Amino acid sequence: MPKVQVIHGPNLNLLGKRETSVYGTGTLAEIDSAMKDLAGQLGLEISAMQTNSEGEIVDAIQRPDYDLLIINPAAYTHTSVAIRDAIAAVAKPVIEVHLSNIHKREEFRRRSFVAEVAVGQISGFGPGSYMLALRAAKKILMGGAPHSK
Ligand code: DQA
Repeated sequence: MPKVQVIHGPNLNLLGKRETSVYGTGTLAEIDSAMKDLAGQLGLEISAMQTNSEGEIVDAIQRPDYDLLIINPAAYTHTSVAIRDAIAAVAKPVIEVHLSNIHKREEFRRRSFVAEVAVGQISGFGPGSYMLALRAAKKILMGGAPHSK
């Protein structure tokens, strides 16, 4: 079974309490549980982690035991050349996810260092962004284009 690694970046452990007008009241545990259910339906193995540390994200990207990465790099999206370079180095398909629409917020959030090394970016659908990413992951792993029916 193809394996999807999910990485949630800094401050996403606070989902449900953090800026709820932007990120909603759902928790990270709820997102992980919904992703696990959907992954089961799609025939994908899934493993999820959260860390506030940039280096731990780089270490996780370098691990060899997954086929596709779904990542919400959170604030590191806008700052981290190290995460961008790790993704480029491992050359595995990566889907960038954001709960909020990063293009509709402050100017500094529009820039993503990850976008140019990702297959694509899903942004603005709340927890649904992760579910859309899993469906795209399934298509990529089955050898289809992510935008095909
Ligand atoms: C975020 C958007 C980022 O700009 C922000 O720093 C986050 C969360 C999102 O999921 O909407 O922490 O990645």
